[in-house]
Amino acid sequence: MKGVVLAGGLGTRLYPLTFVTNKHLLPVYNKPMIFYPIETLVNAGIDEIMVVLSGPYAGDFISVLKNGKELGINHLEYAYQEGEGGIAHALSLAEDFADGDNITVILGDNTTDANIVESVANFQNGALIFLKEVPDPERFGVPTLDPKDPDKVVKITEKPKKPDSNLAVTGLYIYDDQVFSFIKKIKPSSRGELEITDVNNHYINTGQLRYAKLNGFWRDAGTFDTLFEANQYWASKANGK
Ligand code: DAU
Repeated sequence: MKGVVLAGGLGTRLYPLTFVTNKHLLPVYNKPMIFYPIETLVNAGIDEIMVVLSGPYAGDFISVLKNGKELGINHLEYAYQEGEGGIAHALSLAEDFADGDNITVILGDNTTDANIVESVANFQNGALIFLKEVPDPERFGVPTLDPKDPDKVVKITEKPKKPDSNLAVTGLYIYDDQVFSFIKKIKPSSRGELEITDVNNHYINTGQLRYAKLNGFWRDAGTFDTLFEANQYWASKANGK
């Protein structure tokens, strides 16, 4: 299994914090934000990782991550995303790196203390997504579960006005190599991006998507409030509270 961290985008929701640095290099307590998703992958036994970057501060990632050895990465590659074409567009840049292997993908602003080592070890094919109960599902991709078979996801809707559940699709996904052919089939959404939700719906429509619930703490630290909450959580945890 290889790992991909998606750390592109301009972080406009965090202006003015992101005028002079990349969102994923902002501090979350005592580490740059991007350390957390990398640690999630490394703790799951993944030590071949690609980080997808973009924007004017992409070069700063090399100063911070270097060759990845200090973080437990054995092989670190970088890709550069031109523009802000969306999460699925960023992921498409990892096709050569994946080279037919299964990949665990994590968004660079997602921080969690869930351990996904078993999910990674047991993954065979298709797609596995991780769901988390949240108070504000309208901010996320939201699954509709089959009322007759709640183990089954019928569809995922990106940022629905009226969510079908209180579950968020977290920015943590495991895919087989079909993911790259599904990305080639999708079209930009109304916000002009290739949406990872559309890729996941292709897996649903071909009967190949499963889900697991994510245990423990999870936040995407992409807004002022969630960045603050992530800082509070990781500070308390580091101080044994
Ligand atoms: O955090 C979970 C949510 O992330 C999911 O529930 C949604 O389904 C998914 O679409 C995504 O929603 P966001 O609107 O929060 O995504 P955002 O645009 O904030 O991007 C999240 C990360 O993805 C960002 O930190 C870096 C990466 N990204 C994003 C874009 C738009 C890229 O690498 N390139 C991009 O062009």
